[in-house]
Formats: sequence, structure tokens, C-alpha cells
Amino acid sequence: MRNVVEQLVEEVFDHCRNNQDGAPADYIPELAAVDLDSFALCLATSDGHLYAHGDADRPFTIQSVSKPFTYALALSEHGMDAVAERIDVEPSGEPFNEISLDPVSGRPRNPMINAGAITAAALIPGSDVAERFEHLRSYYSRFAGRELSLNEAVYTSEARTGHRNRAIGHMLRSFDIVDGDPDEAVDLYFRQCSIDVTCRDLAMMAATLANNGRQPLTDDKVLDPELTRRVLSVMTTCGMYDAAGDWVTAVGMPAKSGVSGCVLAVLPGQVGVAVFSPRLDQHGNSVRGVAACRELSRRLELHFLRVTREARSTIRSSHGVDAVPSRQRRAPEERAVLDRHGSRARVYELHGDLLFAGTEIAVREITAQSDNLDALVLDVRRVDDVSAVAHRLLARMRLALAEQGCESALIDPERRGTPAHDERVFDDLDAATQWCEDLLLERHGGGVRIPTKIDLPAHPLLRGLGQTDQDHLIGEFAIREYGMDEIVVQRGSPRSGLFLVLAGQVSTTLPGIDGATHRVTTLGAGMSFGEIPMLVGGEILADTRADTPTRLAVLSPDRFDRLTAAAPQLKLLLLERLAATAYGQLDSVFRIVAGQGDLG
Ligand code: DON
Repeated sequence: MRNVVEQLVEEVFDHCRNNQDGAPADYIPELAAVDLDSFALCLATSDGHLYAHGDADRPFTIQSVSKPFTYALALSEHGMDAVAERIDVEPSGEPFNEISLDPVSGRPRNPMINAGAITAAALIPGSDVAERFEHLRSYYSRFAGRELSLNEAVYTSEARTGHRNRAIGHMLRSFDIVDGDPDEAVDLYFRQCSIDVTCRDLAMMAATLANNGRQPLTDDKVLDPELTRRVLSVMTTCGMYDAAGDWVTAVGMPAKSGVSGCVLAVLPGQVGVAVFSPRLDQHGNSVRGVAACRELSRRLELHFLRVTREARSTIRSSHGVDAVPSRQRRAPEERAVLDRHGSRARVYELHGDLLFAGTEIAVREITAQSDNLDALVLDVRRVDDVSAVAHRLLARMRLALAEQGCESALIDPERRGTPAHDERVFDDLDAATQWCEDLLLERHGGGVRIPTKIDLPAHPLLRGLGQTDQDHLIGEFAIREYGMDEIVVQRGSPRSGLFLVLAGQVSTTLPGIDGATHRVTTLGAGMSFGEIPMLVGGEILADTRADTPTRLAVLSPDRFDRLTAAAPQLKLLLLERLAATAYGQLDSVFRIVAGQGDLG
């Protein structure tokens, strides 16, 4: 099947291919020696997939599209402040080769016009122009993901005719914007403009900028994200020179054009676009290149000011722990406390990219609930990127909650959204819910806590029986001790008996579809398991293992069965109690399922 994105890009290419408007640059003679009908359109995604149409591999010189990359290298070498002392970031509204500096600061208005670009070139370190050019060439190659080279013919042609740029270079020297030999700076600039690229190369260079400065195919971190943002900002306001206003309005992407007839555009985080078509308009921008970018932006909805949707809360869901209990089996008196106070512990599941707007809505919603909360859990497993401001807002909210007595925790198995020092982080919803329940029982339980160990006569299954019945039943049970992590009953084995927990803790687990082992329930003293297979037969459905050193009273299947003849009334009483226990377990499972409880 043909990729429909491929088809859409091709439709844009076909929509523009008959546009013959404009004329090639001729002030650099070699530039006019090209096939004027050359036309290529490439789109590269920020993860490196390339859609290419037309003359995508035809070489041409990069010209002014080089300027953002030299500016990037100057920023990397000297930092934003030092470069800003030499080059401003203001759109000039003038043609790219205007011989002018800002009348107040004496600086070139921006690095996208020739005056700013020559200044940026002058900032590239090296012992001579050859070393400095090699520094630039290799840096551009890192963005492209392949080795680029100089087009000697175009370089010679421009060096021979580049008088205006030499005038700009000496003007910069006269204002001490450029130190050292201005002719060397201008020569380096001529060389950078004469590097051969293809439309495919430019699309990958654009994709690297779209990918926050990391080359998507080589994974080379070419430019720091903060500097990437700076370069893209200046491209947005200045990249298309005195056509910048129309470009931002109609296309809406940071861009840079070149007189060889190329245009490079970037939608940060999404795509890089490149077009090659030599005929230019009066601003020195490729006519078909601009038309193709306009059409692509319209059809693919690429405009960066397009609000894909109003800011929506990053809260995917929220619930109280009374609605979705943990799998820690609770004694009836504990369950009563949690039913009454469970809404005072809430779990908020966040999703998507946590940027300011969505985080603000979540903070606002949680803050509105905060007076009624003893515990808050933020489940960030479905969160993608977390912006710095989102981290700060959530950390400050948690601190403020703690100051008013509400403890908080994260569910963050990959520890992505968790500050390093944060110790209260859980791998799954069940563990976080159990923490909430224990906190609520501590605060509202009035001392209600199940005993950590009991004697067999005090077990709820036997409690309250007549002495004869109780003595009879006690005589049927065997007492067994299990060590930590020791398996008690194995999934798939036949019914193994009725187990009463007298001391310690056991958990029943099942393998999940994700390959992980998931807790089904955890039982403590006074609880029982194995009832259902004893009642209905069939094999054991899940492993049960001792979480701690555990003492169990076990009624074997044979003795259970023999009770029917030996003590039918007692057996009936036992069955009624087992059925009630089994129902209690079902209630807990129903709550988890009904609350869309995470079965993970
Ligand atoms: O300096 C020049 O005139 C050329 N080397 C580059 C100018 C350019 O690409 C202007 N952009 N459209």
C-alpha cells in the first residue's frame, strides 16, 4: 500500500510544478548555470523519515540557508550573550544584502542578513580560513548526517564578484563588530555559502532543528535545545528577510531561503521541509519554493500558530480509593473505615505532554479538592514529556498539600516524572492505593487494625461456633509454617485445601498480558483462601506465595469432604461462612473493575 502522506506531499509537488515565475540569481554568475526547471520537495519527520519528490538528489549550493547553521556554531562556541554583543536578533525589514548597521547599537540587526552572517562567520574559531572552514563544513555535515563539500566553481565565482559583501565586511571592521581581517571573514562566508547540498540534505538539516538539535538518524546531539530555540526564533522573524511578515502569516514556520533557489523550514517537534527551485522573487526567495511551502503548510496544517486544541487538562481520570480499592484484603471493620473515608485519598491519572496550560488546569482542579484530601496520588505512567514548568508546578503543589496535611505520591515505574530525592514513588496503582488505605486507616481507623497474628479458635471462620463444633473443627486442621517467598499453592494444581491465615501475609498473583506478575490479592491474619476451589472443585487459578514468614491452618480436601457425613450441620455452617467470605472477595474485585481499576 502506498503511504498516504507520500501521496499528499506529491500532490503538493504536482500542484506547484508548473509555476515558472521568477528568475535565477545572476549576480553570482555560476548560480545562473543551473537547470532552471529543477524542482524538488522534501519533508523529513523529526524521527528521520524522509518523503522526497522531484530532483531531491540534485546538488546546489546552500547560500544563505547556511546562515542559521553558522549562527548556531557561533552560539555554541561563544554563548548567546557574547554573540548578542555582536549581532542583534531584530528583523531589519531590508533586503538581505543591505549595507547597514543598527544606528543605535552599531550591530547588524540579525544573523540572517549578510552583515550579521559575516559577523557570525568571523566568530568561528580557527588558526586560518582553511581550519575555520573545515570547522564549519564538518558542523554542517553533522546536521545533514553525511559529509558535505565545497563547490569550488561557485566559490570562485562569488569571491570574484562579491564586492558588496567585502564592503559590508570592512564596514563591520570599522565599527569593531568584526575583529581581525575582514577579508578573511568575508572569504569564510563565501565558502560557507558555496557548500553543496541536496534538497534531501536540507530536509534532514531541518529535521535536526525540528528534533531539538539532535540528528534523528545519527542521534548526534549537534545543537543544545536552548540554542536550537534561539536559532529557530531568529529564523521565524528574519529568515525570509523583507518577506518575513507574509511568510509567517501564510506559512507559519521558522525558515531560511537561499539565492540558489532553496528554502528550508522547520515545525519544531514535528517536521523539517526543504524545497529547491532556482527562480527567485524580488526578495531573493524561491518563487516555487515559497509556493510549495505555503501549500504544504495549508494542506498538512503545519502553521505553528495553529491551535490544535484549546488547552485541555492533563487529567485523564481521577477516583477515590473507596471506588477502586487495593488488592490488600481488608477485615470488615477496616473496610467500613475505608468506605467512609476512602474519598479523602484520590488518584489522579495524568496523560500526554505536561506543558504549562494542561498542568495549570490539573493543579487548579486538585487544589479545589485539597481541603478534603489526606492523600494524593499522581499517576504519570501515561505522561509523555514533562516541561520544566510542569515539574516545578507539581512539586510546589505537593509541598503546599503536605503543609496542610495531605501526603502525596507518584506512580512512575520509569522514574521519569520523579525528582531524584522523591522517595514516595510506586510502580503500580495497586501499591499506591494500598499506601493510601493504610494512611486513612491510621488517621480515621480509631485504632482499628487487624491483628498480626491470631489463634485458630479466634479465626472468623471458627469464631462463635459452639465449643463442641469448634473443638471438632480444630481437630481437623493441620498447622503449617511457610518461609518468605515460599509457594503455598501453585496455579493449575488441583484443589489443595482450605487455608486460614493465623500469622504473616500471603499474596495471590497472576501473570499479566504484559509479562509481569500482578497481585490479585494480599491476605493477613484472620483471612482465608482456597474456598472457591473447595466449593466448586476445579484447579487452582493463581499462585499463592508467603510474603512474610507465615503460619496457616489447613483443612485438607479429604477432611473437608468427610465432614459432610461426619458433621453435616457443621459442614453446612462452614459452607455458609465460606460463601460469605467468597462474596466479600468478589465485592473487592467488582469495585476494581467497576472503577476502571488499573488491572496492570
Ligand atoms: O551573499 C550573498 O549574496 C549570497 N552568498 C547569499 C545570499 C542569499 O542567499 C540571500 N538569500 N536569499
